[in-house]
Amino acid sequence: MSDWTRGYRTDVNYTPGYYPYLNPAAHAFALLAAGWRAPQLDQPFTYAELGCGHGLSVQVHAAASHGKFYANDFMPAHIASAQVRIAAAGLTNLEMSDASFADYVDAPLPKLDAVVLHGVWSWVDDASRNDILLFLRRHLKPGGYVFVSYNALPGWAPIMPLRALLRSGQGHDSATRARDGAAFASKLLDADARWFKGNEPARAMLDRLRGLPGAYLAHEYMNDNWRLLYHHEAAAELNAAQLHFATSASMRDSLDELVLNEDQRALLAGISDETARETARDFCVNPLLRRDLYLRGGVRLSKIEQLQQLNDTTFALSMPRARVGLRIELGGVGTVTLAHDVYAPILDALRNGPADLGQIRNAIGEHNDIGTTVNAVKVLVGAGLIVPCLPRAGVTERKVVTDRFNDRVLLESLHEAELDVLASPITGGGFRLDRVERLFVFAQKRNVQELAEMAWQIMSQLGEVLLRDGEPVLGDEANLAEMRKRETQFRAEMLPLLKQLQIL
Ligand SMILES: C[S@@+](CC[C@H](N)C(=O)[O-])C[C@H]1O[C@@H](n2cnc3c(N)ncnc32)[C@H](O)[C@@H]1O
Repeated sequence: MSDWTRGYRTDVNYTPGYYPYLNPAAHAFALLAAGWRAPQLDQPFTYAELGCGHGLSVQVHAAASHGKFYANDFMPAHIASAQVRIAAAGLTNLEMSDASFADYVDAPLPKLDAVVLHGVWSWVDDASRNDILLFLRRHLKPGGYVFVSYNALPGWAPIMPLRALLRSGQGHDSATRARDGAAFASKLLDADARWFKGNEPARAMLDRLRGLPGAYLAHEYMNDNWRLLYHHEAAAELNAAQLHFATSASMRDSLDELVLNEDQRALLAGISDETARETARDFCVNPLLRRDLYLRGGVRLSKIEQLQQLNDTTFALSMPRARVGLRIELGGVGTVTLAHDVYAPILDALRNGPADLGQIRNAIGEHNDIGTTVNAVKVLVGAGLIVPCLPRAGVTERKVVTDRFNDRVLLESLHEAELDVLASPITGGGFRLDRVERLFVFAQKRNVQELAEMAWQIMSQLGEVLLRDGEPVLGDEANLAEMRKRETQFRAEMLPLLKQLQIL
């Protein structure tokens, strides 16, 4: 019997995760903002996720939109647990398969508008990458797009040896070995090992790894294969499936004014070859993970078409207005303070619910030329403060499905802390809530008046207590008092947004 794993570690299941950058509405906006024709999401569309893990992202996206979704992952345990939720939530527009990439090439699928693969390209062997290219050649429509993420060079260059340390760990499974390896790396750091000296990226990464579950580390670092790529290498490989680079799916990374200084912009402007420019750009921005959109024969929009479609796009807050400040943290790039007179009116306008670009433009008054408005919206999307929405048509039908899906997730999340996302038929994507907020939503959906009482009853039955400033709250009364405080805040800030997003 041949080794079906092809060097991928399958002895522990992956951690379930939701990734907003796999949302077709986010892709449509990124492509549109870069001047490419994007799939029309008010029309039927087809979408496949390859190597989907437990498939939480594809489930949320299938629940929240009217496309037809497909997904595969060769670990049967991932697909089996996903299928239980799909059946319970009645997600009839999603089919998940435990086929390998090699077998999925021959799956009887319709032609696809979109194929996404997150956390796959760098982590599988050459033969699997080749199977994926065959899949894309066979199944992606002309004009269709691919989302692909991979570990990028030069960002990973100073950090790469950490993987060797993780892989040196001992233990009976990949998760234990990875954690043991991380513990050993920490001992080296504590012993002043010279490799760590002056290597801030490696120290920061080790710090991050120490807080991550063993299952995540196992899938990330313990496979036989781990390929770091420069942009020009990824672009050349994907070109074998007739794909060309369109734009980063990360609005943040693609906004020159956010992530490049003037000298960098001038230097890059002098490079005429697009692939060489994008590769050089990675030396300036230095991302660890590239998240890109590639097109198979992309069609350019005229300026007029682009503006018309941007004008029709609706945006929503991704967190309550009260929690949004104008100082934004941009990872490795630093902190930026957004201009109050442009950005605060936009956020204030969205406080009352999703708004289209025209309404947003009115809100910024004297600065309301279209260029300023579009740019401000892109910055807010890039900063994760607002999200583009699906076209409004069909939202009532979509809400029937997201309600069923969210009921199921809320029920499961009573016992599974990692299930922290609910689907919105407005954004077509997931919305993260903390444990207590999910309990409030659970109670609210049962028309319970006293949210705090019900939430505390459930937590105490499960033997949990609240945390305040990282410390456990002790005793029934103190927990209930803290819970009531959180209920007041939830009603004032979160509840109105959940209603606008039609999660409630
Ligand atoms: C790092 S995980 C990423 C999972 C998911 N995309 C995510 O981001 O949460 C990679 C996934 O690819 C799957 N995989 C690896 N090799 C595969 C193959 N040859 N065929 C199908 N799935 C594969 C693994 O089972 C695993 O769930």
